[in-house]
Amino acid sequence: MLNTSGRKQSLDISRVGDRADDLAKRLHDSIVGQNEAIAPIVQMYQTHLVGLSSTGRPIATFLFLGPTGTGKTRIVEATAEALLGNPGAVVKVDCGEFQHSHEIAKLIGSPPGYIGHRESLPRLSQEALDKHHTASVKISIVLFDEIEKASDALWNLLLGILDKGTLTLGDNRRVDLSRSLIFMTSNLGAAEMNALLSTRLGFAPAAECRNNERLEERIAASGVEAARRRFSPEFINRLDKIVVFKPLGDAELEEILDIELNAVQRRLFQSKSSCALELHVSEAGKGHLLREGTDTRYGARHLKRAIDRLLVQPLANLIATEQVRDGDVISVDFCSDSGELVFWKELSNLTQQEEVAAITDEVVPIFNAHVAVPVWTSVPQTQLAPV
Ligand SMILES: Nc1ncnc2c1ncn2[C@@H]1O[C@H](COP(=O)(O)OP(=O)(O)OP(=O)(O)O)[C@@H](O)[C@H]1O
Ligand SMILES: [Mg+2]
Repeated sequence: MLNTSGRKQSLDISRVGDRADDLAKRLHDSIVGQNEAIAPIVQMYQTHLVGLSSTGRPIATFLFLGPTGTGKTRIVEATAEALLGNPGAVVKVDCGEFQHSHEIAKLIGSPPGYIGHRESLPRLSQEALDKHHTASVKISIVLFDEIEKASDALWNLLLGILDKGTLTLGDNRRVDLSRSLIFMTSNLGAAEMNALLSTRLGFAPAAECRNNERLEERIAASGVEAARRRFSPEFINRLDKIVVFKPLGDAELEEILDIELNAVQRRLFQSKSSCALELHVSEAGKGHLLREGTDTRYGARHLKRAIDRLLVQPLANLIATEQVRDGDVISVDFCSDSGELVFWKELSNLTQQEEVAAITDEVVPIFNAHVAVPVWTSVPQTQLAPV
């Protein structure tokens, strides 16, 4: 930029404003290892906020490809949570449900006079899009899942949305999608990606890093290639960005485990049984959950299932049988003899000392720093029977 005396000042184009920065931080807090997907969402949001988005188009259109369970749907929910305060504030269209052209009426309604007209609100009505707006954010988030399953009629509708940012309903009313973020996901290329992923098993550790980088590149290339083969150039050209999600490695799954354990803790604090419990999982316990929950082919979904089976369900039994009560502190550790997780609770009443059993491993709290951490070493504990 030139100032009056003719000197130049260099500018930093990498910085974004506070609101876009807040979105970036929130997405980084909940989505692991997919920075290439986060960056364009934040950038398009920033461009919209200052009013520089192209007119007559949605704010942004993204196609997400990549292996199953790597965060394609989660990042859309996390965007809704960050912008609209609710992960469910997403208008979701499962394209598999609309494989036949006549089913499109569920989305856009039927013309006046047809059977079913007025019976139910079209899924893509203006009301449905605006429903989740907040006082300060008037953005809608629309997700078309598994677009490779869309019928021709749905394709035409999608092309119109991407191109003009509008949609005409069965009764000729116009729906404005120019303030929408449009996300599309596809499992195209998933079979090739799975084949590539299964070659990762059995790598020599020294070569693993370089091999993983090459594997990621090959997976990304196979995803984009599959999309170009299957989708028309006119569709591909209307997208702002195609992102191929990366397969999740051990380090990413470890981070996701912490996120998920914090989510379990939040559920315990908000549980319907008004049983607010503090939960601590030892490093050995986390290691067991990771071992049981790692399967390269299924991404983080497998880990979530392991957490449900080995942690959440036992906790539900402990609450239902009143072995734990409001305010109790539970620690979870791994017992190498049984090969299972063991559950303990802190005893508040010292007269119950006969039940006391010592735990040996250090117990590591799973909480964020703002949650008070009890002192474990000097406190009597009792072992719980979860099932
Ligand atoms: N990168 C990630 N960061 C944080 N959590 C993740 C990530 N990937 C997956 N998860 C967790 O795993 C769950 C399943 O992921 P998600 O539904 O996003 O998979 P997907 O990529 O949409 O898979 P599919 O192609 O089968 O639909 C999420 O709800 C989330 O809890
Ligand atoms: Mg999904």
